[in-house]
Amino acid sequence: MTQTITVIRGDGIGPEIMDAALSVLDAMNTGLTYEDADAGMVALEKHGELLPQTTLDSIRRNRIALKSPLTTPVGEGFSSINVELRKRFDLYANVRPAKSFPNTKSRFPSGVDLITVRENTEGAYIGEGQSLSEDGETAMLTQKITRRGSERIVRYAFDLARRTGRKKVTVVHKANILKSTSGLFLRTARIVAAEYPDIQCNEMIVDNTCMQLVMRPEQFDIIVTTNLFGDIISDLCAGLVGGLGLAPGANIGTEAAIFEAVHGSAPDIAGKGIANPCALLLAVGQMLDHIGQPENATRLRNAIVATLEASDSLTPDLGGTGNTMSFARAIASRL
Ligand code: NAI
Ligand code: MG
Repeated sequence: MTQTITVIRGDGIGPEIMDAALSVLDAMNTGLTYEDADAGMVALEKHGELLPQTTLDSIRRNRIALKSPLTTPVGEGFSSINVELRKRFDLYANVRPAKSFPNTKSRFPSGVDLITVRENTEGAYIGEGQSLSEDGETAMLTQKITRRGSERIVRYAFDLARRTGRKKVTVVHKANILKSTSGLFLRTARIVAAEYPDIQCNEMIVDNTCMQLVMRPEQFDIIVTTNLFGDIISDLCAGLVGGLGLAPGANIGTEAAIFEAVHGSAPDIAGKGIANPCALLLAVGQMLDHIGQPENATRLRNAIVATLEASDSLTPDLGGTGNTMSFARAIASRL
């Protein structure tokens, strides 16, 4: 069976890591074909806009996109394309696994295997109600939490736990202080949790969660939380297990899903051919799981782990002397 996915090669190191990732994907029998679509600076130069309609149409048609990082130009009138894509396709679940990898000089080379499920469409990031008083002394911002938004993200987390054989969901909140917003999230989470008696549910306040993650990350399995807390916590988790070069993320909605590396376009190393392709490859793994190819996803992840274990052709960010393509070839050879 063939399936077409939208491929966005992106800016900076984007095309380099996408070439590497697709070369590994091509070495597996996935039946996937690729439809290229532009976004970011490259799209601005070619089509005069950061996010062309043809790209949106491609994602809508294929429902699955693999995306390299995009550079958001600094300055007035340019809003983040990533935020725009999440809004357009209502990609409400931001799913970021953090798992210990061998040979990464990370703080936790073993023992960590958790997934942050971050609400991706509401909370503090709705961009509404932002104001600055005339004297510039007082700034305001509106946060929005809805029962529907909370219910669907918590349900996503519990369903993910069931689907992946995980045992525990930790609901992270600040309902003791943010009584209306975090309170509604927590109350809704409790109601959803009651429908999943087979999955342990516990509640943790966000500041304590950060401390617990740094001290004893192995206690966590799935974390579900609101937008701002999830943004911060998922980066913290990436830092526990080896940093940006190894952190993938999925943006999932009911109409579409976009898979990407967590890192940006890394202009400082763009064009040098030394970017680590692992984060995007791990996102490819998430994509394969999502489209019903879990065997290929596991195969890919095992090949990545074996390559890290052997310290074969690793990129400089991991202390190696290899480059993007040698790393990708080393992974492909272990599939
Ligand atoms: P960045 O993630 O691009 O780079 C931070 C540091 O990590 C740099 O030193 C970079 O060389 C290194 N790095 C990142 N990815 C790497 C990889 N795969 N291999 C080896 N080293 C890697 O963050 P920065 O510099 O803040 O942002 C650069 C641009 O990327 C900005 O225009 C920003 O808006 C954009 N960006 C895009 C994202 C996306 O499309 N999802 C996410 C984050 C930033
Ligand atoms: Mg972030």
